[in-house]
Amino acid sequence: MSNEKKFEHVKIEKKEEGNYAVITINRPDKLNALQNQTLREIAEALETVEVDQSVRCVVLRGTKEYLKKPAFSAGADLSDRGSADLDPDNLRHQSHAMYRRHKYYNLIEAFPKPIIAAIDGYALGGGFELVLVCDISIASKRSTFGFPEIQRGIFPANGGTQRLIRNLGKMRVKRMMFFGEHYTAEQMFEWGVISFLVDNDKFEDFVHERASWLGNAPTNSLFLIKKSIDYGTQTPLNIGLQFEQMGFAINSRSKDVAEGVNAFLEKRIPKFQGK
Ligand code: COA
Repeated sequence: MSNEKKFEHVKIEKKEEGNYAVITINRPDKLNALQNQTLREIAEALETVEVDQSVRCVVLRGTKEYLKKPAFSAGADLSDRGSADLDPDNLRHQSHAMYRRHKYYNLIEAFPKPIIAAIDGYALGGGFELVLVCDISIASKRSTFGFPEIQRGIFPANGGTQRLIRNLGKMRVKRMMFFGEHYTAEQMFEWGVISFLVDNDKFEDFVHERASWLGNAPTNSLFLIKKSIDYGTQTPLNIGLQFEQMGFAINSRSKDVAEGVNAFLEKRIPKFQGK
């Protein structure tokens, strides 16, 4: 991993013992609100660990050292006046501004290794949309979710209307986006947007335990499962099944498959190398 790259809005840390990296959004004075620069730095931080064989899972989170309230991210930075090169009165430029943001969300979603969204505190608007491009979401019970954009006259366009509908039914998504209310982590867990709901005091240990599990799991299988599920939501069944057949074939050559099967037959715990 390159240590030379300088980040202002995020921190990146490798957890050698669990084979994973933590990318922390670090804007505590603004509840980790997102500027273009923040999203770009998340994408660049991911790039630094993309080919690092010792990083087999990534945790994306808000800073633990919060100053005001704990937050994953309170969404788009409302105090950000946008880019100097984009004219606010030019509609094409406004569309281009969203294209820039979509680009970063898409890059995060397409990352080849598993990403856990670790949510402790607010996950609102663009912050919630970040959760939606991760693979697994772990939330502490004190976390709060929602799309408050409508209360400010804003359209939640960082992929929210498109990705949430793939997780929840239309009536629930419209309820959330039409009224802009906050929802508890319990509610989001019940609705299936959150993978794990954890007591506040168990949150850190739980995130470490799950990230370490994924960091020591068969990385090739995880990659193919991730892609198969993600493409499966966008393709007809016959194409998705064809992807499964080819994915199975590719995975069968990985050393971890031999290790997993041998370990079972030899009645020992497998040691997966991610190869
Ligand atoms: N953009 C920029 N700054 C933000 C922010 C955002 N999205 N969300 C919070 N902040 C800043 C606040 O301005 C405040 O800064 P200040 O202390 O310098 O005044 C600080 O973070 C703390 O927020 P505050 O509102 O005082 O905390 P709270 O606990 O009373 O409320 C929220 C927390 C998250 C409910 C509230 O800040 C909020 O509604 N934020 C906007 C969320 C939003 O609309 N997101 C979608 C944007 S499109």
